[in-house]
Amino acid sequence: MSTQQSAILNTDSDEWIEVGRLEDIPRQGARVVRRAQGDIAVFRTLDDEVFALRDRCPHKGGPLSQGIVHGKRVACPLHDWKIHLDSGLAVAPDEGCAARFPVRMEGGRVWLSLKGITA
Ligand code: FES
Repeated sequence: MSTQQSAILNTDSDEWIEVGRLEDIPRQGARVVRRAQGDIAVFRTLDDEVFALRDRCPHKGGPLSQGIVHGKRVACPLHDWKIHLDSGLAVAPDEGCAARFPVRMEGGRVWLSLKGITA
């Protein structure tokens, strides 16, 4: 089973956008929101929390959306760095940070703000 699904959203706004239903995101996987400025990975944990990070590993740019989520971390599929979903920071001793984006749940649907918390 694939752990990744894609959503193509046609907006450049900083407004909240609807990503889809929580069920549309595989547990321990991600759904990708494609934008001209760079893709965003929206992750779902095993216990149904959601987080969003730029879909680009701070190591060498691997697609974090294709990694597996364990707890509140995702393992990059390229070289297995672990990235904290709630901060975007790499787990020590690795160093780096993926930009975070605000997400919220409303009536079983996932919303994403295109305004990143970190650059
Ligand atoms: S690119 Fe992610 S661990 Fe190397």
